[in-house]
Amino acid sequence: DAAIPFRGPHQAGIVTPAQDRLHFVALDVVTSDREELRSLLEEWTRAAERMTAGAEAAPGGLVGGGPNRAPEDTGEAYDLPASGLTITIGYGPSLFDHRFGLASRKPAALRDLPAFTGDQLDPRRTGGDLCIQACANDPQVAVHAVRNLIRIGFGVVAVRWSQLGFGRTSSTSTTQATPRNLFGFKDGTNNLKAEEPEALDQHVWVAPGDETGGGSWMAGGSYLVARRIRMHIEVWDRTSLQEQEDVIGRDKKEGAPLGAAKEHDALDLARKGPDGKPAIPATAHVRLAHKSHLGGIRILRRGYNFTDGSDGVGHLDAGLFFLAYMRNPEKQFVPMQRALAKADGLNEYIEHNGSAVFACPPGLKDGEHWGQALF
Ligand code: HEM
Repeated sequence: DAAIPFRGPHQAGIVTPAQDRLHFVALDVVTSDREELRSLLEEWTRAAERMTAGAEAAPGGLVGGGPNRAPEDTGEAYDLPASGLTITIGYGPSLFDHRFGLASRKPAALRDLPAFTGDQLDPRRTGGDLCIQACANDPQVAVHAVRNLIRIGFGVVAVRWSQLGFGRTSSTSTTQATPRNLFGFKDGTNNLKAEEPEALDQHVWVAPGDETGGGSWMAGGSYLVARRIRMHIEVWDRTSLQEQEDVIGRDKKEGAPLGAAKEHDALDLARKGPDGKPAIPATAHVRLAHKSHLGGIRILRRGYNFTDGSDGVGHLDAGLFFLAYMRNPEKQFVPMQRALAKADGLNEYIEHNGSAVFACPPGLKDGEHWGQALF
C-alpha cells in the first residue's frame, strides 16, 4: 500500500516492481493552443504527484472547493491508501507534428511502428498524442488517477482509447514471483529486472548520446510500445498440453525451458531432446524472442491480462495488453516482432489489434514539471 516516489532520475512505473492493476489511456490533444497544452502538462504534474502520494488530485479535494463548484477530486479513492500508484507519461509521434511547434523537439527514435505481417489493427485502439500509464495494486486507485487527469484536461485533451488490465503478466524485479498469463503459462521469467542496472542502461534507458539534435531531452527516458493482443483462448483451451508447451517452448507447470528442469534454468537453444531434435522447437515463442536469436536484443516487458467482455459471437474478448519499454523501438521491438510475426507458433492463437508507441521522458527533479524540456 506504500507510496512510490514520483520524482527521480527515471519515471516511476517502468522498473518499479510491476503492480497488479493497470489503467492505460491514450489521448489526443484537441486544442490548437500551445500554451494550453504546456500549462496542462504542468497542472498534470502537480495532480499526479499528489495522487501518487495518496492525496486528492488538488488541494481543494473532495469538498474543499465549497458547495457551488464541481469538486477538485472525484472522490472514489478518498479513503484508499496510495496502493503503489505510479503515473507514467508518454508522448506519441503525432504530438510533434505542425500543431504545437514541437517538430524540432521530436526525438529521431520516435516514429510510428511499421506494419507487421498478421496485424489486424483497429484504428480505434491505435496511436495517440499522449499516453498515461497508471499502475496500482488497487484498480480503483488506478482508475481514479486516470479519471482525474482526464477531468483536469477537459477541453485540452480527449480520450482516444483506453485499456484496463487486471493482472500483471510480467515480473520486473527478482523480488516478485512470476505471474501467469491467460494461456496459463508463467510470463516474465526471462524479463529484464530492476536489479540489473547495467542491462537496463544497455536496453531500456536512452543514453545521453543517443539523440544528438532536438530530442536530446530523452536521455534517461525510455520508449514504450503498447500492443493490444487478443488471445483466442477458446481455441487454445482445446489444444493439447504438448502443443501448448511446444508453442511457448517452456513447460506449463514449472515454466522451465523444454529439456530443462527448473524455471530459471538457462534457455539453451542448442539442447536436443531424446529424439535428437531441438528440445525447444524452431517455431517456439521463446526461441524466436530470445536474445541469442536476435543478436543480443532485449526489452523490458510490463504487460497485463485483460478481458473486455465478449465479442457478441460467443467468445471472450480477452488477451494480453503488451507493454514494453526500450531504448530504441526500431532497433529492439521492430526486429523482435518481425521475427515473431514470421514464424511464431503463437500466431495461430493471437491477433494484434491495437498498437502505439510513445516517448516517455526521464524522471523529474525537484521543481521540474512534465513538458518543461519541450516548450
Ligand atoms: C517470453 C507469452 C507476446 C517477447 C514469453 C514467455 C511466455 C510468453 C509464456 C516465457 C516466459 C518468459 O520468459 O517471460 C507471450 C504471449 C504473448 C506474447 C502469450 C501474446 C499474447 C510477445 C510479444 C513480444 C514478446 C509481442 C515482443 C515482440 C518476449 C520475450 C520473451 C518472451 C523477449 C523472453 C524470451 C527469452 O529471452 O527467453 N512470452 N508473449 N512476447 N516474450 Fe512473449
